[in-house]
Amino acid sequence: MTRGTRLELRPQALAANARRARQWAGDANLLAMVKADAYGHGLTTAAAALAADVDGFGVAVTAEAIALREAGVQRPIWVMEGFFDADELAAGAALDLHWVVHAPWQIALLAAWHGAPVTVWLKLDTGMHRLGVTVEEAPATIEQLQALPQITLAGLVSHFACADRAQDDMSAAQLSATKELARVYRLPFSAANSAGLSRYPQARGAWVRPGICLYGATPREDHSAAELGLAVTQRLSARLIAIRDIDAGESVGYGAHWVAKVPSRIGVVAIGYGDGYPRHAPATTPVAVGGVRTHLAGRVSMDMLTINLTGLPQAAVGDEVELWGDTVSVDEVAQACGTISYALFCQITARVPRVVAGDA
Ligand SMILES: Cc1ncc(COP(=O)(O)O)c(C=O)c1O
Repeated sequence: MTRGTRLELRPQALAANARRARQWAGDANLLAMVKADAYGHGLTTAAAALAADVDGFGVAVTAEAIALREAGVQRPIWVMEGFFDADELAAGAALDLHWVVHAPWQIALLAAWHGAPVTVWLKLDTGMHRLGVTVEEAPATIEQLQALPQITLAGLVSHFACADRAQDDMSAAQLSATKELARVYRLPFSAANSAGLSRYPQARGAWVRPGICLYGATPREDHSAAELGLAVTQRLSARLIAIRDIDAGESVGYGAHWVAKVPSRIGVVAIGYGDGYPRHAPATTPVAVGGVRTHLAGRVSMDMLTINLTGLPQAAVGDEVELWGDTVSVDEVAQACGTISYALFCQITARVPRVVAGDA
């Protein structure tokens, strides 16, 4: 028996979700956000799976863009945090990267640039208050960029703060500020993340930038991934490595935190926070054994976690346990843990073997 802990990645599901995003996108170009190792799906694996169904790729940092070019990706690549110094700007120019620029010091580096032509998108702060020039600052910056001979200002970028919320009081104002500047300066714009894309056709613009929907998790507070027609792109599983029966009143795990109310059957699963499973997962967090759902029992340890098998007398050592995937959605686990699917996807550690579905 092997430890059996594994993360199955599904390229066909990624491609199916890209086609779903394409349905929402209409005529807009589709920029697949593959930053942070494609939300934990493996940068080059995901890019290869998505390549036929998207128009470009979005990354956060230059190293991710270089890895894509080295893997043979020829489509446009946007670097969402832009360059950090002149050397990075030069490296990106050689690879034809598109920079999203957000700060005066980046504009100053562009003004001093005399190398190969560079394409930039200007980041607007329309209410997120994270990166970007304000709507008031934007005209001067746009005019400055448009006057630089080696620089092509391709368009304007903004980012929704609340498009995922059932009650969204911000996106309309953010979008209208973006569109107004785009209209005045006759520039293309890009505004929509997955939530905005699935919800607001008027936010499509020239490029849409979906991330999480490509990875089969819901971008929306009020709709499940299945309701949105998204396919499961990863399944995290591990094996039962021990089973024991305990009496009512006995506890399980560190801190004696979980106490059996009735005589209980406890399964020990070979996955813990050292594998990236969230340590703070409460006992309400679902798992599935043989397609049957049950819950955690006791605190998550570094290499193991414990589950309640009281209603599952047929479960045996060696059986596979699904932490998330087909029976238990990653969104349910995220909700039980008070976090988001994005964070769960990003935190699976290198110790967990990745298995690409369809590979021999
Ligand atoms: C600027 C920008 N655009 C698009 C996205 C994609 O967002 P989502 O994964 O919610 O679709 C992100 C992700 O954080 C982002 O930072």
